Amino acid sequence: MNRKELIKGYIDFFKSKDHKEIKNSSLVPENDPTVLFTMAGMHPLVPYLLGEKHPQGNRLVNVQRCIRTGDIDEVGDTCHHTFFEMLGNWSLGDYFKKETIEYSFEFLTKVLGLDINRIAVSVFKGDKDAPKDEEAAGIWEKLEIPKDRIAYLDKKENWWGPAGETGPCGPDTEMFYWKSDEVSAPKSFDPEDDRWVEIWNDVFMQYNKDEGGKYNDASQKNVDTGLGVERTIAVLGGLEDNYLASMWKPIVEEIEKLSAKKYSGNERAMRIIADHIKAAVFIIADGVVPGNSEQGYVLRRLIRRAVRYARGLGVAKELDLTTPLVKKILKIYDDYDVLKKNKDKIIDELNKEEDKFEATLDQGIKQLEKVFSKKEPINSVKFNKLMKDPNKREIITGVFEKKLQGRPYSIKDPKISEKEIDGASLDGKEMFLMYQSYGFPLEMIDEMAMAQGLFFSHNEFRQELAKHQKLSRTASAGKFKSGLADNSEETKKLHTATHLLNESLRVILDKPDLHQKGSNITPERIRFDFNFDRKLTAEELKEVEDLVNLKIQSNLPIVCELKSVKEAKKDGAKGVFDDKYGSKVKVYHIGSIGEEFSKEICAGPHVDNTSQLGHFKIVKESSSSAGVRRIKAVLE
Ligand code: ALA
Repeated sequence: MNRKELIKGYIDFFKSKDHKEIKNSSLVPENDPTVLFTMAGMHPLVPYLLGEKHPQGNRLVNVQRCIRTGDIDEVGDTCHHTFFEMLGNWSLGDYFKKETIEYSFEFLTKVLGLDINRIAVSVFKGDKDAPKDEEAAGIWEKLEIPKDRIAYLDKKENWWGPAGETGPCGPDTEMFYWKSDEVSAPKSFDPEDDRWVEIWNDVFMQYNKDEGGKYNDASQKNVDTGLGVERTIAVLGGLEDNYLASMWKPIVEEIEKLSAKKYSGNERAMRIIADHIKAAVFIIADGVVPGNSEQGYVLRRLIRRAVRYARGLGVAKELDLTTPLVKKILKIYDDYDVLKKNKDKIIDELNKEEDKFEATLDQGIKQLEKVFSKKEPINSVKFNKLMKDPNKREIITGVFEKKLQGRPYSIKDPKISEKEIDGASLDGKEMFLMYQSYGFPLEMIDEMAMAQGLFFSHNEFRQELAKHQKLSRTASAGKFKSGLADNSEETKKLHTATHLLNESLRVILDKPDLHQKGSNITPERIRFDFNFDRKLTAEELKEVEDLVNLKIQSNLPIVCELKSVKEAKKDGAKGVFDDKYGSKVKVYHIGSIGEEFSKEICAGPHVDNTSQLGHFKIVKESSSSAGVRRIKAVLE
């Protein structure tokens, strides 16, 4: 069965049960500012789930295009996708648990012909918000699903919604299929065993979550279900890897052609490229263009991540990566008019973003080469031979890890002296800065370094990454909740502008000991508190603003150095010197080292050049507390 047959089979089945087919809506939610993308079939139906009358009745069915960015790091495995299609049927205050489960069971066993001996289910085990779902379990038992194949799980597993912060939600029952052909399905269901793959979710929307986090009984009991097209196709085809199915394979094959590499051995990178470009194609078709906030930012990250991985795979820069992939994607999804209509725009936007990123890539590569040139490559003939073998490279990198961490190590083959290792070791933290400034992934830096006979500690790199992710998760916990958790370009710009503001205040108010007392930056504005004991005059504010703008217009580079706290202090870097920074700190210079306008300790991240900041404007100056003033400012 292919994707079109599955979709038709599902819709026809529910039509035969008096459901009306509704349209497949845009990926950009029309009336819901709490999420960035449509992430389930129920999403466009929220007003009707809340009680409004649907013009097509109270039994509905469709296929819905969806985007989920929450699991972005899991993309690259066999079954997580950013873009996917969801089949769903809904009851708006009509049938409830009995018919829902019976319909699901009939569709799975009769229409798809799945073997009942390979099916297991889970139901909600109950908690303070809702009771154990004995009713759902009882219905399954009547359909001859054995007790051992019914698992009772908690809210984390068997509860769905609301889609945003508030709205309809409730307990659900999920259906699993045993995918292994080698081992027959065990008698009892172990939800931890991932050979049981989840294919369908029936949600019983009995509750409404309010802004205070309370679950109130819903005035209308609804049913919302979701059957994943990609997973079901893989299950039906007996495939362990979704990417071998017809809605992925032609894209993967095109990537093989472009990179002159095989899928086998390069699965993760190729899956990421295929997944991200497919998602980008659909997002652009629904009217989003790459940008620095909200949906546009997610789109930008997806495209750049794909381009990075393509470069890592060896796809030549001169090759147009995106156009051939778009063509394949449009052919697979030729039932989507929105793709057909927007073909030129999709190709154009992807190409523009690809080119823009390629430009930063080149700048980053130059910077990296500069760092490399200061090192002593390992130079033995034997070693260079080994470098060509990817398995041996792994061993050598491992040796470097140990050496850099001061752990015992031995190299039997080849014999490399300690001196050679020292000479060839790059700073893992510095390599992380390359990732942060230019978006270079670890694998790419690693490959470039090794090609030069240089190494760095992956652990050190990852530790920095984890620290940074923790910071950005906290920073972006609000708006980007359902987007890609990261520091947005806007936030980065405002961070850099804050350093300029800090120094300009010091200069204009002629107060060398002026320092930051607090700072709060959102993607929209800066809020900066500093020690000063009177209101600033209009003239002073204007002068501060002008000085910041002068520095922006001077195209100053932002340079980052890693230093010990002691060194940084000696150098006169501004900032808070306390333990929370660890032993080494980042000193950000605005302007070349030695000629900088500002020198400040900061965790970053920052933009590369002040020219990227636009125009700085102070919108408010007020008192924060005794002896502390507050400035709010924006970039426009
Ligand atoms: N809305 C439910 C889900 O996405 C069906 O799993």
